[in-house]
Amino acid sequence: MAYLWVKAFHIVFMVTWFAGLFYLPRLFVYHAMSDDKTSQERFQVMERKLLYGITTPGAIVTIALGVWLLAMQPAWLSQGWMHAKLALVAILIGYHGYCWVLMRRFAQGENRHSHVWYRWFNEFPVLILVAVVVLAIVKPF
Ligand code: HEM
Repeated sequence: MAYLWVKAFHIVFMVTWFAGLFYLPRLFVYHAMSDDKTSQERFQVMERKLLYGITTPGAIVTIALGVWLLAMQPAWLSQGWMHAKLALVAILIGYHGYCWVLMRRFAQGENRHSHVWYRWFNEFPVLILVAVVVLAIVKPF
């Protein structure tokens, strides 16, 4: 019973985490296209609030609840789909950290990429989302 409650909130916070990971690079697209100071300052505030207020807390709670699920059901740790899932989550954490680096560069006026680059960058978490949800639900191996 407790297990299913923890799993339900694991998924709720995973959605929060991904909402942030989809919208933050989208803000970078608009930020990279803007050339006036007022817009740039507004994007900086939006990016900071999204990363620190929603995306990072979403990641922390998703991971904490995932670890809690593993503590209740350690047998998952001997299955291949879980190994693959954890490897993809590690890559996702790297992507999240890189978003933080990109946000800091914008704040310091040191953006190095075009809006087109951010549009492609924005697609990457879609691949991870599809792969991790299929692994967790289909458990193919
Ligand atoms: C370190 C991070 C994570 C850990 C340790 C973890 C661990 C777990 C565990 C142990 C389960 C229970 C499996 C079951 O009862 O069938 C689970 C379920 C699930 N996880 Fe994660 N997870 C993590 C991150 C994520 C992420 C990033 C996503 C989405 C991209 C995700 C999506 C899901 C889904 C959809 C389920 C439900 C599977 C089902 O009901 O069959 N998890 N997770």
